[in-house]
Amino acid sequence: NAEKLVDRHGRAIRYLRISVTDRCDLRCRYCMAEKMTFLPRAELLSLEEIALIAERFVARGVRKIRLTGGEPLVRRDMIDLARRLGRQIGTGLDELTLTTNATRLAAHAGDLFDAGMRRINVSLDSRDPDTFRHITRHGDVTQVLDGIAAAKAAGLRIKINMVALKGLNEAEIAPMLAWAAEQGHDLTLIETMPLGAIDEDRTDRFLPLPRVLADLRDRFDLAPDDHASGGPARYWRVAGTGTRLGLISPLTGNFCATCNRVRLSTDGKLHMCLGHEDSVDLRAAIRSGGLPQVDARIDEALARKPEAHDFRIAPGAAPAVTRHMSVTGG
Ligand code: GTP
Ligand code: 5AD
Ligand code: SF4
Repeated sequence: NAEKLVDRHGRAIRYLRISVTDRCDLRCRYCMAEKMTFLPRAELLSLEEIALIAERFVARGVRKIRLTGGEPLVRRDMIDLARRLGRQIGTGLDELTLTTNATRLAAHAGDLFDAGMRRINVSLDSRDPDTFRHITRHGDVTQVLDGIAAAKAAGLRIKINMVALKGLNEAEIAPMLAWAAEQGHDLTLIETMPLGAIDEDRTDRFLPLPRVLADLRDRFDLAPDDHASGGPARYWRVAGTGTRLGLISPLTGNFCATCNRVRLSTDGKLHMCLGHEDSVDLRAAIRSGGLPQVDARIDEALARKPEAHDFRIAPGAAPAVTRHMSVTGG
């Protein structure tokens, strides 16, 4: 069954996000609790299983694959997977890319480029060493900045992801944009989303991006840009530079009508929406019935893809979804 992937709301699925591990060397406060229980290794899809499922998606119309986590570079065979999936570029796949915290990027940037990646997204919520350590609980920002420099030197284009956090990195947003423009990187700002229990109430840190944008427009010459990366961001161009500013506003805006994505979790569940618990089990499918079974499960899942997420940030409210973002890779 090589039928194209279209859901019941008429949305074509072209983008597969794969979480290769739920583990991470950092513990960003909006993402994880200090103490996390990770999946036992036996629960993970093998490299071979991930590759077979991903190749099936490409055969059925997926054009873009992003490897995520957790931190993808903490999984030992991640580069082998990138090399294997990279072979699909040009024969179905348009783009293979990665979202990383960059702590281990310096050692791997060249391999990623050789695997066929041309741009990557790097999470960097602060360039200040103390603020960075506070937000990530464990991180050393020097490693990340070295990783970014190595990636640039290896020929990768870089988009910085910054989760906007009230009272934490709020004052650094404008300087981050100025720095990104000077370095030739893009910058995407993200509203914090209620996934998984963390140790604090996300309401205290929530910053609505329309307000942030208004402030940035006072300081920078920003023009709307119709660039479509295939992801949820809406873009602005920073005049006189090659830099794009992206805004990901799941709470104050809604991009679900143009959703083109599904996500494969670390343990082989196919999630049709980041903001819902529903999934189908592709690990069981591939182990019991091989690819025909995988196809059947994908069709079932597509028929159930929700129209929209129902994220809300309200004081004291439980997270909309109990799993952490690291399991599905965002
Ligand atoms: P580009 O290819 O550069 O557009 O990247 P991307 O934005 O698709 O990927 P990235 O991994 O950088 O994700 C940035 C943020 O967007 C993360 O916080 C993701 O969780 C979030 N995101 C991606 N897709 C969705 C989605 O369908 N719904 C919601 N609510 N958030 C999403
Ligand atoms: N809300 C918004 N963004 C998040 N990220 C991780 N957890 C959350 C959350 N709860 C971001 C990371 C990374 C991207 C994949 O998602 O900072 O840049
Ligand atoms: Fe790790 Fe990324 Fe989560 Fe931070 S946001 S703890 S870097 S997975």
